[in-house]
Amino acid sequence: MTHFETKAIRIQSERTLEREHSVPVYLTSSFVFDDSEQARAMFAEEIEGNVYSRFSNPNTSELESKISALEETESAFATASGMAAVFASIAPFVKSGDHIVSSRSVFGNTHKIMTEQLPQWNISCTYADIRDKSSWEQAIQKNTVLLFVETPSNPTLDVIDLQWLSGLAKSHGLLLVVDNCFATPYLQQPVKFGADLIVHSGTKYIDGQGRVLGGVVAGPRDKIKAVKNFVKRTGASLSPFNAWVLSKSLETLAVRMDRHCDNAEALAKYFQTHPEVINVTYPFLDTYAEKDLAKKQMKRGGGLVCFEIKGGVERGKKFIDSLKMISLTANLGDTRSIITHPASTTHSKLTKEERKLVYVSDGLVRISAGLEHIEDIMKDLDQAFTKSKQA
Ligand SMILES: Cc1ncc(COP(=O)(O)O)c(C=O)c1O
Repeated sequence: MTHFETKAIRIQSERTLEREHSVPVYLTSSFVFDDSEQARAMFAEEIEGNVYSRFSNPNTSELESKISALEETESAFATASGMAAVFASIAPFVKSGDHIVSSRSVFGNTHKIMTEQLPQWNISCTYADIRDKSSWEQAIQKNTVLLFVETPSNPTLDVIDLQWLSGLAKSHGLLLVVDNCFATPYLQQPVKFGADLIVHSGTKYIDGQGRVLGGVVAGPRDKIKAVKNFVKRTGASLSPFNAWVLSKSLETLAVRMDRHCDNAEALAKYFQTHPEVINVTYPFLDTYAEKDLAKKQMKRGGGLVCFEIKGGVERGKKFIDSLKMISLTANLGDTRSIITHPASTTHSKLTKEERKLVYVSDGLVRISAGLEHIEDIMKDLDQAFTKSKQA
């Protein structure tokens, strides 16, 4: 199997004696040993096998095999959510007194890990600017052990040069962790540019239908062993049912992502010519500052588009309240198109100055293009532009 689509479909748990075509859900907390010697050997990790579903389960193992095949890493470990994956990509590799450099443009709870959780254990973090390479170089200290970045970033869709960043990490002996949630392995495989660990929120495009939470960390065997030990001891393992949903969803990731990209591209062009829009951000758009870099790292521009509506925070809120079909919800990567206004929601606790530092302007609106017909998505946007102007 060489092609992405085939691997996403055909990597499967071994067929049981029932001869099923589609892999069943293994809802079992533990597994039975043949005898006491096998139990001893499995606990001692002398032989491989399922012991307890917090450690492994056929459904989580299938998902992990698929993700590592799709990300082209040696191994992967599934977690209960994307945040569990973010934390598990850091916690096993740091100790008291260590220092991390992270992009400032990271998801809200990742920001909390960096600024509130890790400092509780005397692990400090310096933020670097995703748009300024020199800030990364300047942030590295003697005790730095890890670099963390999201690319494209949430919500402003900034991309960073992964080849350059992994070179910087290697020259200082640091681990590079990349949150690849917005691109998915279909659009971007960070290991090809030298990243060490890849993090996913499976909750987004991997599920793709807004049903379950899940996460995964992918990377080299020894590092994933450390991630697995950390998660199996601390407990944020993925449930077999959620693993089954996510693995089934991966079967259609390629076709879904292509359609998400088609719709997002069409929306980006639509916003570009709209008189009520100040500017549009979409990684493959001609006007996108890092278009060449985005095209080097990503197969397509992704399913998210940002635009700035005329009229700031108030207009942004009115616009969203005028939508009839597009969902206002705290997720992305769903079949249903989703809208968010970061300044009044996810980034509302930041001061105006702090929002400026992460490039979130008052009128910024983020759309996760769903899989509805593009004409229906545009029709909803059209009427909301008109209604919010009149209100
Ligand atoms: C880029 C990114 N990373 C991580 C997460 C966390 O994922 P989860 O909600 O599955 O814990 C999110 C969630 O929105 C995200 O957008």
